[in-house]
Amino acid sequence: MELLSEQIDKQLLDASLEFLLTHPHDDVKRFHNALIHWGSEWRVVEPSNLPATDYLTWAPTDSEDRIDSLLSLFTQNKSQLNWEQSYTKEDGVVGEDMLAAYGFAELIGKFGPFISEEVRCGIGVWGPNVDYPRHMHKAEEAYLVLSGSAKFKIGESPERLETSGDVIFVESMTPHGFQTADQAMVVFYLWQAGDLRETSTFG
Ligand SMILES: [Fe+2]
Repeated sequence: MELLSEQIDKQLLDASLEFLLTHPHDDVKRFHNALIHWGSEWRVVEPSNLPATDYLTWAPTDSEDRIDSLLSLFTQNKSQLNWEQSYTKEDGVVGEDMLAAYGFAELIGKFGPFISEEVRCGIGVWGPNVDYPRHMHKAEEAYLVLSGSAKFKIGESPERLETSGDVIFVESMTPHGFQTADQAMVVFYLWQAGDLRETSTFG
């Protein structure tokens, strides 16, 4: 018999894959092959909460229905997810503003719940007035903004305000960072290539 956690994870996986594999943006299509071939193995990942999940809320909006339904599914099931952070205070690479108000929950990746060496993806939350300093990594990355907004600075491109529905693609080893203002931002993130759990380089 399937565990309840497996049923919930599969529901999130199906909804996320449907969202991503029907996404019209070319920068999401770059990940389609890795997503289709993500693997087949599921494992139990114990839920773990973080204060950032307070910002993962959902209310009907006028954004795209497909974004609304994905956001509502993750919001309903947020207490079942394993929320984590890549950085600690001791690392000294991100500020306490960020550590107090951010977190992500992996759906597919090295640690699961869906195990993959091909692709890493999940949901990430950044509270208001958070500065994610510029950093880089070998993996290429896409942020799909589900709700809220942030000013992104990618490589040498001018800073841009990105909001719900926008897709931000980051090439391998390209410095990138963002700042939220008075709103929290929720993203769906995608990584491929490189070590899917590599440590970012800052500065
Ligand atoms: Fe990144």
